[in-house]
Amino acid sequence: MSAEVTYDLRRRVLREGHPDASVAFAGDTEPGAFHLAVIDEGSVVAVASAHPAGTVHRPGRRSWRVRGMAVEPLRQGTGLGAVLLDAVVARARVLGAEVLWAAGRDTALGFYQRRDWVVEGQGYLAADDLPHHTVVLDLASGGR
Ligand SMILES: CC(C)(COP(=O)(O)OP(=O)(O)OC[C@H]1O[C@@H](n2cnc3c(N)ncnc32)[C@H](O)[C@@H]1OP(=O)(O)O)[C@@H](O)C(=O)NCCC(=O)NCCS
Repeated sequence: MSAEVTYDLRRRVLREGHPDASVAFAGDTEPGAFHLAVIDEGSVVAVASAHPAGTVHRPGRRSWRVRGMAVEPLRQGTGLGAVLLDAVVARARVLGAEVLWAAGRDTALGFYQRRDWVVEGQGYLAADDLPHHTVVLDLASGGR
């Protein structure tokens, strides 16, 4: 998908629908970036993106950062996020990633942990003032 396909869900789910919110993320168009979506009867119901970026938690490893995980509100909790995150992992693996990481909202940490990601480091407030932790998946060590 192009990055633009993700914008509507990014805005509605991750930016509370604010019309002026920035929904184009740094890294969206970097070499190695990709954007995946679940589309149901023509509607985009879940999106996720990833781009190459290192993390201090895995120095020197070939790493991709996952961004913009968002599921249509009425469809949350029905397995779409899990399907999509597994697809992101599979795609990153094909591209040669050893590590995936994300700035996970504290409210979503359990979602990542259910998919074998681990929480690293101290919590922090992100630019949106929401509490976050970094979450990491080690692919080389047999993660999903
Ligand atoms: C977080 C999000 C991407 C998860 O996608 P989803 O489709 O709702 O999740 P799924 O239905 O695939 O759930 C997969 C598993 O994770 C668990 N899970 C899902 N969301 C969770 C959450 N917020 N906290 C804890 N566990 C969660 C589910 O219970 C399920 O567990 P199971 O395997 O035991 O059945 C989605 O709910 C969402 O868009 N939330 C709002 C935006 C957000 O927080 N994005 C992430 C920012 S880092």
